[in-house]
Amino acid sequence: MPAVTSATAGRGPGTRVLGIETSCDETAAAVVDGGTVIVSSIVSSQVDLHARYGGVVPELASRAHVELLTPVLADALAGAGSGPDGAGIDAVAVTHGPGLVGALLVGVAEAKALAMVWDVPLVGVNHLEAHLFASLLEQPDLGWPLCVLLVSGGHTLLLEVTGPGRYRLLGGTIDDAAGEAFDKVARFLGLGYPGGPEIDRVAREGDPAAFAFPRSYPGDGHDFSFSGLKTSVVNRVRKEPGAPTADVAASFQEAVVDVLVTRARRAAREIGARALCLAGGVAANSLLRDRVEEACAEDGIGAFLPSRALCTDNAAMVAAAGYWHLEAGDTSPLTLGADPNLRLAPTA
Ligand code: KG4
Ligand code: ZN
Repeated sequence: MPAVTSATAGRGPGTRVLGIETSCDETAAAVVDGGTVIVSSIVSSQVDLHARYGGVVPELASRAHVELLTPVLADALAGAGSGPDGAGIDAVAVTHGPGLVGALLVGVAEAKALAMVWDVPLVGVNHLEAHLFASLLEQPDLGWPLCVLLVSGGHTLLLEVTGPGRYRLLGGTIDDAAGEAFDKVARFLGLGYPGGPEIDRVAREGDPAAFAFPRSYPGDGHDFSFSGLKTSVVNRVRKEPGAPTADVAASFQEAVVDVLVTRARRAAREIGARALCLAGGVAANSLLRDRVEEACAEDGIGAFLPSRALCTDNAAMVAAAGYWHLEAGDTSPLTLGADPNLRLAPTA
């Protein structure tokens, strides 16, 4: 994406983008005005559908998106005073990767049809980039540069962000994503799905110092590794089957948060960040939020923690990212496809 140099350039307030998100197990649609004001936002979660399998079943997710997208879109459009004719909608933005290919295709096909029928631009959005834009929805005047810790079910990334759409990758996980580690450990402990919120809840009753799980800091840079920690939890519980689940969950969570905050804090210092910002589903974690606030207060920089609803998957962040692409003249052809392995391309 060509970098956007001014937050006020171009179309500005009054430009409404419809966002569509179907990359995993949330079917979502939203209308955002001027890239920062959420006019309507509907998220329909498929959590109950997948819970009994302990994880997202791709084929079920695609089918559920097919069923849910039409009513979700109708609600989002009605909430913005629009309707099937797309009145007042200036562009359609859609997540086209990364994610589950079948799930992505449902949203991409719908977005292409709407853009064609309404005769408005189509904007393909990278799901990870959309998570970065979630923070701008609540705090459009965040100072730059920002250090963003993007922690979701599929990714763990540290980025330097120097403006809307301008970012540089600092580091990432070399094995499991943080959310994946939460989900796998929760599953092993017999907790529900998705595991992150369950561990967050159960850990409140546990002793975070009960088990000294390992902290891994691979290399000298800003990378992460969580698979050793996960294995260590499994080995420990196998050796000590009576270990209280709350203590194991609390000690595991303590180790993950410790590593995330230590590395993010160091990266923020290194780039001279004005604030440390969280993004992605794991950013909803209570301990992580508390620790980031404490660390930033100590370091004299801002802490920006988007509301929990904007941390997890939603379409408002997709519409916001779409708006900035539109501003930059970066729209997509109607031949846009889904790319399950789409990478985040650095632009700074
Ligand atoms: O960003 P997201 O909604 O979807 C992806 O793009 O992956 O992130 C989902 C991940 C899951 O792994 C889930 O367990 C984790 O975010 N998560 C949490 C919490 N809430 C969601 N992890 C830890 N603590 C939470 N409170
Ligand atoms: Zn996500």
